[in-house]
Amino acid sequence: MTLDTTRALPIVRTINDLRSQVFSWRRAGDRVGFVPTMGALHAGHLSLVEMAKARANRIVVSLFVNPAQFAPNEDFERYPRNEAGDLEKLSRQAYCDLVYLPAVKEMYPDGFSTAVRVAGVSEGLESAARPHFFGGVATVVTKLLMQVQPDIAIFGEKDYQQLLVIKRLVKDLDLPVEIVGGATLREHDGLAMSSRNAYL
Ligand code: PAF
Repeated sequence: MTLDTTRALPIVRTINDLRSQVFSWRRAGDRVGFVPTMGALHAGHLSLVEMAKARANRIVVSLFVNPAQFAPNEDFERYPRNEAGDLEKLSRQAYCDLVYLPAVKEMYPDGFSTAVRVAGVSEGLESAARPHFFGGVATVVTKLLMQVQPDIAIFGEKDYQQLLVIKRLVKDLDLPVEIVGGATLREHDGLAMSSRNAYL
């Protein structure tokens, strides 16, 4: 007999449903941890979930491939997506309390016209090749943090410039959340784990 350890994961797709769940935890005095991802989860992501669990007792993971951080000539359409596989990994390997799976229209409804730009730290390095990138990241991360309203959020140190951009925007916008960096996990040959390694 195979023991099925999968537990059904609570999933929400709208900001209203997300907020009503998180607010009920807050009323009960829970501490909320958040791990934002673009899905195609690997062991690196799951280690961030475990880090969040060590620091909070209710964990939200978001799966959202953010179109705003891809230029028109980039890989938004073919970016690896595997919702069923991600949910299975979360339920079997790094169980969380809530998965937030917003549609693009939920995140960017018609008429959406605001952008967050973090000057200084966004320039150079990754931006030299992808000038649109950090604006898209800063905008979606600001929205995600306002939507989830966690006490703590974990981001991989693999994308170190992104981590600095997020720390800066949280400080500048007085967002009441602690940002923590998680160590990079590597394959046996030293390659940093990344969803885009599926292209190799
Ligand atoms: O690092 C990522 O996976 C993404 O850039 C993030 C932070 C989830 C924003 O879309």
